[in-house]
This record gives sequence, structure tokens and C-alpha cells, in this order.
Amino acid sequence: MDAASPPHALILAAGRGTRMKSDLAKVLHPVLGLPMVGHAAAACRAAGMAVRLVVHHQEDAVRAAMADAGVTFTRQPDPRGTGDAVRAALADLPATGTVVVLPGDAPLLRADTLRRLLAEHDGQLVTCLSAVLDDAARYGRIVRDGDRVSIVEAAELSDAQLASLREINTGVYAFDLAFLHRVVPGLLPHPPKGEIYLTDVLGLASELGRARVIVHDGDVDEVMGVNDRLALSLAARAMAWRVKAAHAEAGVSFEDIDSTVVEVGVQLGRDVTVGAGCVLRRGAVVGEGVRIGPHCLLDAGVLLHPGVVVRAFSHLDRCEVLPGAVVGPYARLRPGARVGEDCHVGNFCEVKNAVLEPGAKVNHLSYIGDARVGARTNIGAGTITCNYDGHGKHHTDIGADAFIGSNTALVAPVSVGDGAIVGAGSTIVGDVPADALALGRGSQVVKPGLAPRIHARNAERKRQATRGDGASS
Ligand code: UD1
Ligand code: CA
Repeated sequence: MDAASPPHALILAAGRGTRMKSDLAKVLHPVLGLPMVGHAAAACRAAGMAVRLVVHHQEDAVRAAMADAGVTFTRQPDPRGTGDAVRAALADLPATGTVVVLPGDAPLLRADTLRRLLAEHDGQLVTCLSAVLDDAARYGRIVRDGDRVSIVEAAELSDAQLASLREINTGVYAFDLAFLHRVVPGLLPHPPKGEIYLTDVLGLASELGRARVIVHDGDVDEVMGVNDRLALSLAARAMAWRVKAAHAEAGVSFEDIDSTVVEVGVQLGRDVTVGAGCVLRRGAVVGEGVRIGPHCLLDAGVLLHPGVVVRAFSHLDRCEVLPGAVVGPYARLRPGARVGEDCHVGNFCEVKNAVLEPGAKVNHLSYIGDARVGARTNIGAGTITCNYDGHGKHHTDIGADAFIGSNTALVAPVSVGDGAIVGAGSTIVGDVPADALALGRGSQVVKPGLAPRIHARNAERKRQATRGDGASS
């Protein structure tokens, strides 16, 4: 290998994946928030390799999903097997050096395993990673015959051979590039489907005495190929444990580690506690010491500063919560919500595209959308910013130290100045200046002593109606 150039990785991701029974290409099925092929690419990059993907089926979608993954692409014009996929990529690979080839459907593969493969490849033409499985299912088998080693696909083996041969081909190999350029163009199709098998290259190298098979020594989940939905869910389960164990190791407490979902690419600071049943999506960032109550959902783009408290059953999406703030229970923070220092957003409140300045409180049953709420302002229960007129969205601006009485409707665009008070039950359609009192409700009418007469009249009506029923029956 040329010492100067990094090893290349070629991920085979052109296949349809018929056994998934899906309209989505197999390699795009997510495992904990990242497509399977994204996991494969991340492992290769972590092992220091330059990554190229072979694509065909749903090519545009695969390119789009991997646009930010730092990979390059080769189109396989007419997929006819793993050997054909490598053939399509030969022109895009260097003439010499090492290339690691791996399938796009092995999301659990670790960078450490790829590093070991590269280290053991030293001087070989082909080094194949195998694994010994209790149930070797339909994997290709490693067949050893004296010094010779080859791979035979399950379809080409008898039932007796399938039962006795438990060492499988993981589909992960290191190749000498010059050798690959020499032999891949000449690989012959296998009947009956006419597929070209990359696996044949191992046998060819073995004939030259320069092939090696190394047995995977880590957990076998890692080399599992995902071909159907059950395997996909088992891969997600294995990955889930790996991700949560790493967070726990780094100082995160899970009240119930089994019921909590943490996707890949979530940042959790030290001393974060996560209640039972939470779902934390890829891209969420949670600062040190944050407490997340049970059954919360944090979507991508959530940023919780250190020390924030999120109480049970809250749903947060693309929002920011600053230190000292308390959110929930049952709060909904939608995109563009920015909850300032020491703010409270309480039960059954929804905040969207709105800034709550430090110390503002929205504690019960309110909707604050397209708005600013000034520092220390109190928003009474049931307050609604009426931001939508059926056509466009409008802004509500509320100053600092204001008091908005319960059940107020603020019809945007509208503003309430610093220090102003809005009486409960008001419908506010015009701007309220600073320090003003605004009342926008019908005035109260009181008639002393009238209630007993109304009670008596209503009771008499009920009596007559009941008597009428009795007479007719
Ligand atoms: C392959 C191996 C088998 C091994 C198994 C490990 C061959 C012939 N067989 O079988 O020995 O045990 O992987 O999981 O290689 N692909 C392309 N272009 C194609 C065909 C496939 O890019 O024309 C891609 C697929 O998208 C997939 C990968 O190659 O990511 C493997 O293809 P798949 O059909 O899953 O191969 P297996 O039957 O699992
Ligand atoms: Ca496969």
C-alpha cells in the first residue's frame, strides 16, 4: 500500500433490497435516526478511510441522504451482483493501494473492526472477514479445502453443507487494488440469475496463496446483514443499547434504559437524567445537569442549556431553552421557540416562533405564537395570541413586566407595552401603551335579589313538564 494515500472504502449500496418489502431503498432504512448506509460510511470515516458509495436504486434519494456525509459516488449502470458493483467503481478507484469493500446493509459494523481488517491485510491480495454463527442462515459460507479457501453462496450449497458450515462471509473485505483491477473484469456470471459475485475474488487470490480469512472476534451483531424488517428491528435494538451504554458511561442516568430511545447523534452532557419512555431524536443537544421527565419527546434541533428542567410528557421541536427555565409537564415547544433564563412554560402550553425573555411565565393552557414576551411578564391561564387571520401570520409584541389576565385573546398584529395590565377575559385588538390598563370585555351587569325568582320559575317549569309525562303514560 502506498503509505501516503489513505485506504479507500467502497460501500455497495445499489441494490433494491426486495426482502424489505418496501418502497424505500434498503440502505435508506434508518437505524436510530441514521440510514443504514450512513452508519457504514461513518464507521469507514472513523477508521480513516476515503469513502465511495456504489448507487443505482433510488440513486437520487441515496445521494441526497448522504450529501453531508463526506462521501463520493459511483453509479452502477445495471446492477448484476456485488462483483458487478465493484466493476462499475474500478475506474473511480486508484490503481494501487488498498480498498475495503463492505455492504451498505451492515449498520452495526465498528470502526475498530475495520482497523483490524486493515492491519491484518498486510501483504495479502484479499483479506475476508468471516464470523462463526450458531444460525448461519442464508449467508455465503467460507469453504476450506486444505490450503485453499473460497466463498460459496447459500443457493449453491446442499442442505447438509448449509447445516455443517457455520463460518460465514460477512461481506467485508480488504483488497489489493492492483489485483482487483486485474481480476474483476473477468468474473463470470453465476447461473441461474446471471449475477456476478465479488466473492469469487477470494478463491482466485487463494490459488495464488495470498488470501486470508480472519474470524471476527467481537460481538456477532456487528457483522449482521440486514435483509428484512425483522433484522432491521434487531439491528436497531443492538444499536440502541450501544448508544445508551456509551451515554451512561459518560455520566447520564436513565430511569429506565429499556424504554428510552436515544438516536445516534444526540449530545447529552454530564449528569443529565432521562425519565422512562423518553425519545431523543438525532441532533438534540442537552446540556449538563438537565433533567428530562418521563415520556418526553425531543426532536432534532432542540437545544437545552445546562440545568434546564423538562417535566413529563413534553414535546420539544427545534427550539432553545436557556438556563434556569422549567418546561412542562405537558408543554409543547415548536420550531423557533426560545425560552429565556428562568422562564416557566407550564401545563398544556404551546409556544411557536416566539421569544420569552428572562423570567417570563406562561404557566397554564396558553398559545404563544409569533410573539415576544418581555422579561418577567406573566401570561395568565388560557391566553391566546391570535396570530393567523386565515391568510397570513402576524406578530404579537408584549413588553417587560406586563400582566396579561386569564383568558385574553391578543389579536395580532398587536402590542402591549412595558408594565401594562390587560384585564382577564379581554379581546385586545389595538395596541396597549406602556403602563396602561386595558379592558376589552363586556361590562358586568348585577341585579340584586333577582336569583331566587329565576330559580323558582325554572323549578315550576320542570314540575309541569314532569306532570305532563305522567299523564300520557
Ligand atoms: C452477500 C454475499 C454473501 C455474504 C453476505 C453478507 C455475494 C455474492 N454474497 O450476500 O456471501 O454472506 O453478503 O451480508 O456477494 N449490491 C450492489 N449492487 C448489486 C448487488 C448488490 O450494490 O448489483 C449491494 C446491495 O445494495 C447490498 C450489498 O451489495 O448493500 C450486498 O448485496 P446483497 O444482495 O444483500 O447480498 P447478500 O445476498 O446478502
Ligand atoms: Ca445482504
